[in-house]
Amino acid sequence: MFGTYFHALASCTAIGLCLALASCTASADRLPCVRDDDCADYELCYEDDLCLPSDTARQLGGTVGLECGVRDGQQQGCFDRETCHRGFCDGVPEFAGAQMATTASETSLEVMWTAAVDATPAEELRYEVFVARAPGGFDWTIPTLTVVGVDHVRIEDLDTNRRYYIVVRAVDQFEQTDGNRTVVSAVPGCVDFATQVQPLLTASCTSCHSGTSPPRALVLGSYAGLRTGSMLRQVVVPCRADASLLYLKIAQSLPPIGSRMPFGGPYLESEQLALVRTWIDQGASETCPSTPGVCANDTPPAFAGLTTARLLDPTHVELCWSAATDDATPAEKLVYEVYEGILPGGENFTRLPRFTTGTGQTCAVLPGRVPNETNCWVVRARDAAGNRDGNFAERCVTVPPTTCVDYRSMIQPLLDERCVHCHSSIRPFRDQSFESYSSTTARASVLLARCRPDDSLLYQKLVADSPVAGQRMPVDGPPFLSPAQIQLVRQWIEEGARQQCTDPNPC
Ligand code: HEC
Ligand code: HEC
Repeated sequence: MFGTYFHALASCTAIGLCLALASCTASADRLPCVRDDDCADYELCYEDDLCLPSDTARQLGGTVGLECGVRDGQQQGCFDRETCHRGFCDGVPEFAGAQMATTASETSLEVMWTAAVDATPAEELRYEVFVARAPGGFDWTIPTLTVVGVDHVRIEDLDTNRRYYIVVRAVDQFEQTDGNRTVVSAVPGCVDFATQVQPLLTASCTSCHSGTSPPRALVLGSYAGLRTGSMLRQVVVPCRADASLLYLKIAQSLPPIGSRMPFGGPYLESEQLALVRTWIDQGASETCPSTPGVCANDTPPAFAGLTTARLLDPTHVELCWSAATDDATPAEKLVYEVYEGILPGGENFTRLPRFTTGTGQTCAVLPGRVPNETNCWVVRARDAAGNRDGNFAERCVTVPPTTCVDYRSMIQPLLDERCVHCHSSIRPFRDQSFESYSSTTARASVLLARCRPDDSLLYQKLVADSPVAGQRMPVDGPPFLSPAQIQLVRQWIEEGARQQCTDPNPC
């Protein structure tokens, strides 16, 4: 690029100049000149006036570089990384190199960059694309591909599921290249988690989904966090974007649970959605190339289903089963989806499961059981290709009545599951959080008439829409709370909305 130089010396006389310059002691030796050619080697004709050594002129920040020439085989007058062309100094293009490579099809890659800056007009800048099959395998003598005046290129006829490494260099009209070695890499036919999916999640999601208490305990800053899922479920079902809450929540405005993500927008662009979808549908692997055929398998696991359900204590139920077997996924990699109904036969298999276990688990403990309620469960096994078995083996447990409602083990789990995603410190609709006993009761004067549920907004809003109480809660119902859950909140308020049963009863 052309330097922008100024004529700092325009008003200086030869004498004045030399007074200002420590290195200019031999001023008497300086020859007057009209052109550079009038001066000795390594000197420039300054201001058509006086020959100066080029580094002295450089210290002045003066006109060096504006004009230049080659004498005796030596170049005169340009800064480092500049060369002299047609009497002017020209730098190499300013270029950051390739920014990203992504799969464009099973056999092609798309490489993107930000246009270089140079004196050569943008539409005439040439980009040399070097493609290698190993990080150090570049042949810098011949570019694989050359394009002019664009900021992306598609590289065709590549092998599927093999990694390629790419460097892009800018070349100006004087054949000067920036010479960068910035390597991007990608695998045709494979969306890469680290370079394509994670950056997107980092840009749009981790402002909330990171740190010590992310929403729904869902951490999106790493592959491990993503695959661990939220407090209740796996949010990614490999090979099945349409069964993955993560995809449903970024793609729809009425996802099965809560609101569209990123919460409050701006939502992702359609190409970004497509990228996440493809990544999940290809098996949601951490690295490319992905295991070939991981999603091609369509045989579900063989699974006898749930064998026992028992009440561990007044609020916890334990479910157990014998491990399923699968033709492709080892038993320790299978996960189990727990479907829950509040009556025998009441499980809904078209909705998301109530809970997904970690890999290889054969028991699960469910907290937050509700007195006087019968719950029934069906457990299904899911393999690494997203196939789920179809058993209907059901077990039910009826929880006995309680003489006192304990907030921590009975009310908080219910609020956590159904209310906190809209009423938390991150997202307090109507300034109301239900994250803890203190936040639930912080606005007791508005929400709660201790001992009198019928006068409490908190209770009224669970029962029905009404002109007095407004919209029924939760807003994302149905399903709303079950009759036994609503009765539990009622009983808790009747007993004084206490934190603990040992606290004095104010009623
Ligand atoms: C401004 C904060 C914020 C941002 C940004 C955000 N989320 Fe969320 N996310 C939430 C809150 C609050 C909830 C709980 C409410 C809900 O589920 O609607 C949530 C819940 C979720 C859940 C539901 C988990 C479950 O099992 O219920 C998923 C999945 C999710 N977010 C994915 C994402 C993704 C993917 C992004 C980025 C594209 C994102 N979120 C960006 C705040 C945020
Ligand atoms: C999908 C989001 C969402 C969910 C889930 C949700 N709420 Fe709300 N809640 C709102 C909105 C929006 C409002 C304000 C509109 C209104 O009052 O009807 C609100 C208002 C309220 C209010 C009134 C606060 C006031 O001071 O006026 C109460 C009480 C309440 N919710 C309780 C609950 C309870 C209890 C649950 C869980 C059983 C719940 N909400 C679940 C969105 C939600």
